[in-house]
Amino acid sequence: MAEHIGVVGAGYVGLTSAACFARLGHQVTCVDTDESKVDALRRGEVAIGEPGLAGLVAGGLADGTLCFTTAQAQLHGVDLVLLCLPTPPGGDGRPDLGVLEHVVPQLGRLLRPGCVVVTKSTVPVGTAARLPRLLGRPDLPVVSNPEFLREGHAVEDFRHPDRVVVGTDPPDSAAARRVARLYEPTGAPVVRTDAASAELAKYASNAFLAVKLSYVNVLAELCERFGADVREVAHTMGLDARIGPHFLAPGPGWGGSCLPKDTTALLHAADAAGVDFGILRDAVRVNARQRARVVRAVRRAVTGSVSGSLAGARLGLLGLAFKAGTGDLRDSPARAVAEELAGQGAELTAYDPAVGCVPGLDAVQVVDDPYLVAKDAVALVVLTEWPEFRDLDWARLAAAAAGTVVVDTRNLLDADVLAAAGFAHHGVGVPLRT
Ligand code: UGA
Repeated sequence: MAEHIGVVGAGYVGLTSAACFARLGHQVTCVDTDESKVDALRRGEVAIGEPGLAGLVAGGLADGTLCFTTAQAQLHGVDLVLLCLPTPPGGDGRPDLGVLEHVVPQLGRLLRPGCVVVTKSTVPVGTAARLPRLLGRPDLPVVSNPEFLREGHAVEDFRHPDRVVVGTDPPDSAAARRVARLYEPTGAPVVRTDAASAELAKYASNAFLAVKLSYVNVLAELCERFGADVREVAHTMGLDARIGPHFLAPGPGWGGSCLPKDTTALLHAADAAGVDFGILRDAVRVNARQRARVVRAVRRAVTGSVSGSLAGARLGLLGLAFKAGTGDLRDSPARAVAEELAGQGAELTAYDPAVGCVPGLDAVQVVDDPYLVAKDAVALVVLTEWPEFRDLDWARLAAAAAGTVVVDTRNLLDADVLAAAGFAHHGVGVPLRT
């Protein structure tokens, strides 16, 4: 059954949901307060670089299933409204719910009776229970339906989710069934649960991924001490179905707009509840020290000593975004490492296929050609796992460079290819290849 869906917020969750639900045949009205963004979207211009998204938006605009507006009043007649508003970190570790708390009472005044209010934003446990009061509308059913989309894979993840979570109090209400029906075409298993469990499941998932990553990053350090290879260890672990092969690649630390924010928020919530979530606190601590570990590895590779000086050392950086497939610099470990290296006096040139500049980090010269980063560099440092870095002409890079060192913080490159070009490959948790 086609529904009239209102989406509040045209960020990457809101816009992806709006475009995908329109594609599934629903009538979607997407509201955002940013006039220039709405104007651009009406022209089919999508600023978010999600594969497939621009095509879906264009299709929805063309067949009239998708429209964009700044006029909230247009949500008056919708059957369901999806809240896809930003919940950025507040100063004290708790998410800042300012936007949500501003918008929800306005919605309460205009939504029609029977409209289902759905929270897709990541919100603290207990938010769904608070919403009827915030809406000023105890009559409206509230559903927690957190999203698990990955940046750079949002459309693919929307179409093929591992699971869909629908939480209401009581569970399995008519509103929950209605939301669950929206996802039927995806064929994904639907977990119908209570609202608090749905809200916590979102935090718990991101926090677990963070713990897994910090675990493997420490494991990589241990491998270096023992002369073991973290890729072999992680591969072996991943074959155990109880562990699984994903999120076992060491790197310069985990970042982005979600994992850091959500781990901090969950820790804060645990503290407030009097629960010692030590394992998560350690994962955050390990992550904070990961950039220093990368900088030490660069110092050791360049100077032969972990305490050697990088002052005046010319370094070429490959990657700045927090992960491949996005130009997002929010909480990017690559950016943090660059900052630290610049602070130690290194001269930095960087290339990232999706990043044109690094606001606030003037010490890094960003170039639009990967071969320029090698010019006179004593070392190249791979910080983001863009697959195309593998296919660079490493002999050409070696000819331009002043040194023979590649520090590969993602274990992305083929050590044999590098060796043939004359580079020594310093990976993470892997034996040195010269
Ligand atoms: C994350 C979750 O994966 C999504 O399920 C969730 O919906 C989203 O947050 C959110 O809450 O909105 P995302 O922020 O796009 O998605 O980033 P991830 O793909 O999870 O990567 C997080 C970090 O882990 C990146 O810095 C990445 O480079 C790092 N990573 C990932 C590794 O270092 N090694 C790995 O093996 C995997």
